[in-house]
Amino acid sequence: MKLNVKIGKVQFKNPVTVASGTFGYIEKYCSPSKISQLGAIVPKTVTLNLREGNPSPRIVETPSGMINAIGIENQGIDNFLSEKLPKLTKFKIPVILSISANTDKEFVTLAKKVNNAKGICAIELNLSCPNLKKKQLVAQDAKATYRLVKAVKKVCKKPVIAKLTPNVTNIVEIAQAAKKAGADAVSLVNTFAAMAIDIKNRKPVLGNIVGGLSGPAIKPIALKMVYDIYRETKMPIIAMGGIMTNDDALEFLIAGASMVAVGTASFVNPNASIEILSGIKKYMKKNKIKDIKQLIGSIRT
Ligand SMILES: Cc1cc2nc3c(=O)[nH]c(=O)nc-3n(C[C@H](O)[C@H](O)[C@H](O)COP(=O)(O)O)c2cc1C
Repeated sequence: MKLNVKIGKVQFKNPVTVASGTFGYIEKYCSPSKISQLGAIVPKTVTLNLREGNPSPRIVETPSGMINAIGIENQGIDNFLSEKLPKLTKFKIPVILSISANTDKEFVTLAKKVNNAKGICAIELNLSCPNLKKKQLVAQDAKATYRLVKAVKKVCKKPVIAKLTPNVTNIVEIAQAAKKAGADAVSLVNTFAAMAIDIKNRKPVLGNIVGGLSGPAIKPIALKMVYDIYRETKMPIIAMGGIMTNDDALEFLIAGASMVAVGTASFVNPNASIEILSGIKKYMKKNKIKDIKQLIGSIRT
C-alpha cells in the first residue's frame, strides 16, 4: 500500500500530520514510537522574538468544539532552533515549521534563519497575523497574501505552505493569490473568529475577549473550503478543521486534500492522529485502494 505524498520537493511517508499549536511537545501523553509513525509534525507557530501570549483564560469548551485565544505564546526562533527542534527531530519525521510575524521583513528574516536548519522540511506561513496597512489579517487580503508569499519564496530554499484563515468571503481567491506567488501548498483552515460570554457576570469568558473556534463544529465548513480550493486550483492542500476520526480525514482526502492535520482531537485523545492513520490504512485495504493518490480528489460529483 502506497501512502506517500509529495509537497514541493518533499516526500512525506503518509498524509497524516498534526495542526500547529495543538501537539508540539506531548511525549508525556503519546509514546515516541507512535509519534514517529506520522507523516510529519507541525509545532506551535514560532515568531522572531519571544511572545507571552494573551491573558488567561485562553481556552473555553463549546458545544462540538473549543475557542482558543493563546496569542502565539512562544520563546522565539533562536530558542526554537536550539532547544525545541532537537527534541522534535529525534522522532525522525519531517518537521513543518509554522512561522508568523508582524511584517513581511520579519517573515523573510525568519525564513532565512530556517533555511539551514536540519530536520525542518518546509515552512508554513501562519497568515492569520495582522496586515498592518489594512488592519485585516494578511490572509484576508489577496494582495497582501501574494506579496508576502512572494517575498518568502524569494529567500526560502524549502517548500512554502500558506496557512489560510476561513474568516473571508472568498477563500479560493486567497488560495489563488498564494499559488500565483509560488506557494507549494496551502493549509486550511485556521480557526473561525468566535467568542463566549459568561451570563452570570456578563463578561467575556476569554481574557482576550474573542478567540478562534475549532473542532467538530467547523468540519463541514472547512471541508467545503478544501473542496472549492482543490476544484479551482488543483494545488496541494493540507486540510484541517474538526478532524476527529478516520472517516473525517477520508472526507478531506476525497475532497482534494493531499494531507490531513489533526488538531483539537489531540486534546481529547493524544493518540488521535495515529489512530486516524491506521483507520485510513484499514479503509484503503478494505476498498482495495493501493495508492493514496487514487483517493485524493476522487470525489464523484
Ligand atoms: C489551542 C490551539 C492553539 C493553536 N495554535 C495555533 C498556532 O500557533 N498556529 C496556527 O497556525 N494555528 C493554531 N491553531 C489552529 C490549528 O492549527 C487548526 O488550524 C485549527 O484548530 C483547526 O483544526 P482543528 O479543528 O482540528 O483543531 C491552534 C488551535 C488550537 C485549538
